[in-house]
Amino acid sequence: MNNFVFHNPTKLVFGSGQISKLSELIPENARLMVTFGRGSVKSNGVYDQVSTALKDHSYIEFWGIEPNPTVETLRKAIIQAREENIDFLLAVGGGSVLDGTKLIAAGIVFEGDSWQIVLNRDGEKSIPYGSVMTLPATGSEMNRNSVISNKETREKAAFISSRYPDFSILDPEVTFSLPPYQIACGLTDTFVHVVEQYMTTTGQSRIMDRWAEGIMQTILEVGPMIMENPRDYDLMADFMLSATLALNDMIRMGISQDWSTHMIGHELTALHGITHAESLAMVLPGTLRTLKKQKFPKLLQYSERVFEITNGTPDERIDQAISKTEQFFRSLGLSTRISEADIGVETMDIIAGRFNKAGVAYGENSNVTGDVARRILMNCL
Ligand code: NZQ
Ligand code: ZN
Repeated sequence: MNNFVFHNPTKLVFGSGQISKLSELIPENARLMVTFGRGSVKSNGVYDQVSTALKDHSYIEFWGIEPNPTVETLRKAIIQAREENIDFLLAVGGGSVLDGTKLIAAGIVFEGDSWQIVLNRDGEKSIPYGSVMTLPATGSEMNRNSVISNKETREKAAFISSRYPDFSILDPEVTFSLPPYQIACGLTDTFVHVVEQYMTTTGQSRIMDRWAEGIMQTILEVGPMIMENPRDYDLMADFMLSATLALNDMIRMGISQDWSTHMIGHELTALHGITHAESLAMVLPGTLRTLKKQKFPKLLQYSERVFEITNGTPDERIDQAISKTEQFFRSLGLSTRISEADIGVETMDIIAGRFNKAGVAYGENSNVTGDVARRILMNCL
């Protein structure tokens, strides 16, 4: 195990009715901006709960942060926040609203255009912010990541905020209004986050492996039940907490990681507007097929411990595990091949070109270059 520092200061406030705690969590004299998406919170009662909880606070609202939040929208929020001397932000919505809010929080104190923060990969400074998370998926509620899109240049990239959310409120009841597609996407995103931190080499850490396997098994178990019963509180509670634990630094202490699937998936979103999790459902099986030799021992462990496959040669067991992974995404209703979205060689060339130009090499062995990304995408057709 490598040396590491673990320090995640986000206060998680979990459970039914907990949005009312906002009044205690946000300083009374804060100059507050509350940020929202495009209206789901108005139809499911979340907006009313937030307004009631904040009745003794004064605040302004910023609406319209879109899925795959764009710098173009967020620049407007930054201008408004500066004019009003905002010193605290509250994001109410899914991962996109919270990621966008992380950029606003950094952009307020950044001299220069906020896209530069994304290009720097580093939000040097930030004002404090909290969240009411309405969609289990990204883990953004308890991490420092923020993924921002640029409409003009058709790019999508992540930066690391200097701050974690001060707090995040997770009430499983607010997920009852999610459409089946968003639930499918949330389950898939959570599962793939774990895979990206797990599917490297064996023997790095028993405890990290077991935690990761536990989250993956939980998602495989609750996923089909949630698709049948999307208003079951206890199932949603397990899903919501799994999504948070999958990407709050807990399962990656002292180990290597491989974020190739996400990096390729972000390109598919930037170039073709594919929803984040669906891009992962399309790319992950192809990544595993392409890097099978390199990841062989870990794939075998995955097939035995996560899918409990015991029949066949090691090679066959791995193939079964990869195909069961793909079947899981498909059973949720997602596409798992880029050809289903009419994506072909032209896009592969663009992505390979972008990776090669940037000189990137992802994965635990730093070998997923543009050319390897193209091979992966060939295996996703
Ligand atoms: O905009 P509104 O009207 O609020 O509607 C949203 C949106 O249309 C809706 N929604 C959210 N909560 C709802 C709801 N509808 C009904 N009931 C509710 N309770 O769902 C739609 C999708 O929302 P979005 O926030 O875009 O989804 P998600 O949470 O999956 O976030 C996706 C974004 O997060 C990034 C992705 O790249 C993408 O940009 N990611 C962020 C990460 C992070 N910060 O750590 C990691 C991830 O790997 C990911 O890259
Ligand atoms: Zn993701």
